[in-house]
This record gives sequence, structure tokens and C-alpha cells, in this order.
Amino acid sequence: MTASTDPAQRAAELREEIRSHNYGYYVLGEPSIPDADWDDLMRELKAIEAANPSLVTLDSPTQRVGAEVETTFAPVTHLQRMFSLDNVESEDELRAWESRLVRALGEPPSAYMCELKIDGLAISVTYENGVMVRGATRGDGITGEDVTANVRTIRSVPLRLRGEAPTVLEVRGEIYLPVAEFEALNRRQEELGLKPYVNPRNTAAGSVRQKDPTKTASRNLRVWFYQLGYVAGGPQFATHSDTMAWLVDLGFPINPENRIVATIDDVVAYVDNATQHRHDHEYETDGIVIKVDDLAMQDKAGFTAKSPRWATAYKLPPEEKSTVLKAIEINVGRTGAVTPYAVLEPVFVGGVTVEHATLHNEGEVHRKDVRPGDTVIVRRAGDVIPEVVGPILARRPADLPQWNMPDRCPFCNNPIVLTDGQAKARCTGGFACPSRIREYLFHFASRGAMDIEGLGFKTVDTLLNKGIIKDPSDIFVLDRDRLLELDGWGEISVDNLLTAIERAKDAGVGRLLTGLGVPLIGGTVARTLAREFRSLPKLMAATEEELGAIDGVGPEIVASWIGWASDPDNIHLVERLAAAGVRLVDPDPVPPTSDHLTGKVFVITGTLDGLTRPEAKAAIESRGGKVTGSVSGRTDYLVAGAAAGSKLAKAEQLGVRVLDEAAFSTLLAGE
Ligand code: IVH
Repeated sequence: MTASTDPAQRAAELREEIRSHNYGYYVLGEPSIPDADWDDLMRELKAIEAANPSLVTLDSPTQRVGAEVETTFAPVTHLQRMFSLDNVESEDELRAWESRLVRALGEPPSAYMCELKIDGLAISVTYENGVMVRGATRGDGITGEDVTANVRTIRSVPLRLRGEAPTVLEVRGEIYLPVAEFEALNRRQEELGLKPYVNPRNTAAGSVRQKDPTKTASRNLRVWFYQLGYVAGGPQFATHSDTMAWLVDLGFPINPENRIVATIDDVVAYVDNATQHRHDHEYETDGIVIKVDDLAMQDKAGFTAKSPRWATAYKLPPEEKSTVLKAIEINVGRTGAVTPYAVLEPVFVGGVTVEHATLHNEGEVHRKDVRPGDTVIVRRAGDVIPEVVGPILARRPADLPQWNMPDRCPFCNNPIVLTDGQAKARCTGGFACPSRIREYLFHFASRGAMDIEGLGFKTVDTLLNKGIIKDPSDIFVLDRDRLLELDGWGEISVDNLLTAIERAKDAGVGRLLTGLGVPLIGGTVARTLAREFRSLPKLMAATEEELGAIDGVGPEIVASWIGWASDPDNIHLVERLAAAGVRLVDPDPVPPTSDHLTGKVFVITGTLDGLTRPEAKAAIESRGGKVTGSVSGRTDYLVAGAAAGSKLAKAEQLGVRVLDEAAFSTLLAGE
């Protein structure tokens, strides 16, 4: 075939050719041309479209990456509900599921479809007359979020279907980030000195919810489709496997590991095989999905409230891998507590690359009998912190010495002492220990405590290293000129930091107390104490009886506080904070101006012009209302300022009343 010279016709030819190569590559898994030739076709098409903008079509392969989208992803009601799956965790449970099924059907299913359960993010993609029109997240199964612009960037999602397309088609699949892409992404993060991403699944989910589709496109996400949703004007099918074969013809990538099997014994064999070959794929799997293949039988079995009775997910156990324990090092936390941790030869387990794992305390190290130089088993389940299970003794080199807690802190060389019957080790260096003070200050400035924006880990580190701060009170007397001398600091960043610090002086007793990091006194207890005493000096003078009488304050907390408050170093610190201008006493509570909001639950989001968040909260509370952090069925009003994000979408979804600033003022005034 000779190439057409008419631009419109040539563009159509190129699109067809690119689509057919994509089909070969993504659906059949058989690349049909070298990458460079594919790039040439794309370049030619782009050139034609640039010269003839009227020829651009929405489904052209050049139109995958569009402009930035709004911050909020609009809610989308799925044409058919997106169900989740029930789990089984053993062969026995799997067989019990089948027995229930046989009882419901009155006969064993004629066949099962076994599929890998891809560990990514569920997506529903809608086509109208063969053209992709929408991509939506699962959300609560009924309503998801519109992420069309981002889903379009995924090259294995067809923008136009092949052959005879139905009028409307909704297909479900799993978007994932290939493990190799995830690792490459993290190598780039590391080079840039940025935090690594936790695992491929969260990274895929984050990528799909990017504001800027260029970012999503750069992540090289992939997709496997596994289920039909709503269809109008399509053929009739007898089995799930037939629907999958149809999806292949239409151009959807379907996982090649899917198998139709006859009996539950065959399912068990599939599960065993899939477990053994779990790591042979370019994606992570977290189980096996088993579906009754016959659609009439699916109908008969039906659904429970949340999931189909005709399908189940066989959950794979947490993963274990072996690796070398290179060293055991220690960490000095903000309270001076010393914690040993394992430094491992990096190993990819349970979806993340693990290099460190906590060992809790010296006793734990001895109980597990792990020694530097051992080959050890590392386990990680889902979102759980990685754990060293134990050594492989057969692989232990001869004469490997036991590890013992060092006598002195490697950061400040002060003695490490054991407390609590040897279970807890503590560095005695106080604020002179660089590790402890760094952790302490980082916590002090953090969101849950004094909330000083701009004083993160890196800045704390710089200020400590330069000797500009030595304890928390120094933060409040920082010298502007001295900060301006620091590398990479301009007037704007210095002034922003100083403004945030100035504001923090007024943070109030609850936040200050949280920031002081007294053992056992976290945010909740700190707020309780602040509410009762309203004054740090009064709290420091409180007796055991007074403290013990407070709801939610047990004897251990009382002991911890009394110990802290009587330590001369701490007394001195509080004096220095006061001298630096930090307010130690809360103003008396505003008497309720009225109670017309009693029982009403509010959520505040976005920026309000006339009020700060704390002011808006106080205004609601002084009228008897309550403010919570997240929108739920119990929320009465969402106060939405400028740039309101996902909370607004959620409120709209749940039918919660949304108030703009003007409506909020009116409500406060009781009009
Ligand atoms: S079928 C009605 N098949 O697992 C059937 N789900 O709770 C609905 N998943 O949210 C799901 N691989 O995101 C199905 N081959 C597969 C799957 C799969 C991954 C995910 C999906 C769903 C969750 C099930």
C-alpha cells in the first residue's frame, strides 16, 4: 500500500497503523515494529496534525496527554456498581466457599476462571460508540472520581476500539506500575535527594490522581482489564471467558495468565502454581481471583451486600525473602530512647525495597539471635513495617559474634543506660546528643505539634549543623540576617519561616505540650491537659491527685509528667521558651454566644477570606457546634473556602450541605 498524499487520509492511515502496532504490543504481547519506527509514525502524525489542526481527533494517539485538570476530580456515578471481593486465605476456606456455591446453585459450576489479582488500583473505563470517553476510580463502588485526562495517558488503554463496538461499554481493570518502573522512579528520587515512594501500588494510585497529566504520562503505568461493566448494544455472552475474548478483540489488554479450569481441585493447582511463580511477572500480585465462568450461574448465585457470591479472592500470605544483615545500628529518638535497627542488603519484599528494619531493643536482637553477617529472613505484609524474622543458621559464617548494645552513644559519646529491667536503653546526652535534638526539634515543629511550616527535617538539620539552634527556645529568637547568610535561602523563604515561627508563639498550651514530647503525652492527652489547666506553669505545679482526677489520664501518664516537670533541665527549657515569647497560658474560653448550632457537625475545607481555620472552628464551637476532620454521613455542613479539594467532592457525593463563606457567615449570625 502506498502512503496517501492527502493529509486527512494520511492521518487516518497513520492512526490505524499506530493502533494496530499498539494492539500487537499491549494486547497480543508481540511487538510488531521496532520502537524507533513507531516513533517515526507518531512524529509524522504529529506533524500533519500541527499543520492541519482541524484534522485532530479526540481518539488520535497524539492526544493522550492533555492540559492540567481542576484540583477536584468530579464525581462520576458508575453505570454498573463496582463490587469488591470476599477473601479466602487457605485451601480449606476456598473449598468451603465452593461448598456454599454448590448449595446455592444446586450443582457444581461447569467451570471456573482463575485470574491473578493484580495489586494496583481499580479503574472503570467507558466507551461510547467505540471512543473512550471516561476513566473513573472505584470510589465507594457506586460513585468514583473522574480521572479521564490521566487514564488517557496510559498507552495500553485503547482510545478507540477495534471492530464493531457496542453503543456503550464500561470495562473494569487494574492500573499498575511495573516493578521495574517503580524501581527506576525511586532511583531518580534518590539522585534528586527526594523521599523514595513506598510501593508500586500507592505510586500508581498517586499517579492517577495527579493534577498534571504530563506527570501521569511520565510514570509508564499499565493496565490489565478483568471485568465487563455495563454494556448497551453489544452481543450476548454465555460465559465470563467469552466476554474476555471479546474484550481482546476490541483491543483491551487481558492478562495472559487467566485460565479456565473445570474443578475446584484445578483451582487449587492454579493457586499453588501462581504462588510459586509470584515473582515471575513485571507487576505485583496480592492473590488469585476465582470466578464462576457461566454467566447464568453467576446470576443464580448473586451478590451479598458488598461482593459477588460467584467470585472470591485467594489472598496470598505476607512475603518473606532472605537477605544479608550487614550491620545493626542504633537510632536515638526524640525522647532519648535508643533503638537498634537492621541495616540490610536491599531486598524487594512485599512490594517495597527494604533496607532497614527495626529490631526494637537489645533483648529482641538476642531472642531472635540475629547477628551482623547473618543471612536473615525479612517479612513484610501489605502496609505493615518490615520485620526481621530470624537468621538462617545453616548459612551463618563460623564464629560470628553476637551483637550487644554499645556502652556509649555513637552520636554524642555519652553513656547509654538501661532502664525498665533492661528493656529500654536511653542515651544520657540530653539535648547535647545531635541525633536526639534533631528528632526532638523535628517533632516540636511538626504539624501535630507547633506546626511551624518550613521547619522540616532538612532545615532543622541545617540550623543544628550551623550551631544556630541548640534547643527549641532558640527557634523563637532566630536572627533574620544570620538566616539570610545560609546557602540557598532568600528573603522570601526566610520571611515565610519567621512568620510561621511568630505565629507558633501563639500555638497554645495543647500544641506546646505535644511539642515538648513528654513520654506518653501525645496530642490527645496534651489537649486534655491543656483544656483542664489552660496554663503550662499551673500544669507544672499540679499535684499527683489533681492530675489523676482527670478523665483519660492514668497513673503512668501522671508519673511521666511529674518526672518531666520536676527535671531542672525541663524547668529551665520552659523558662527559656517563655523568655523567647512563647505563650504559656491559654486565654479564657469564649462564653458561648448562642447555642443555635448545638448538635451540628461541621467540616471546614479550603481557605476562607475573613477567618482563619482556628477562628472558624472557635466560631462554630462557641455556638454549640462541632468540627471534625473528614466528611462522612454524619456531617451536617461542609464550609468550603477557596481551592476546596476532595472534601468538597465527597460532600457533594454524600449530599452534605455545602456553605460558601457568605452562607457560613449568615449561619453563624443565626439568620
Ligand atoms: S474482579 C465483581 N479480577 O481486586 C468482581 N478484581 O476486591 C470485581 N483486582 O477492587 C473484581 N485483579 O481492584 C477482579 N483479576 C481481577 C483482579 C481484581 C485485581 C482488584 C480490584 C478489586 C479488588 C477486589
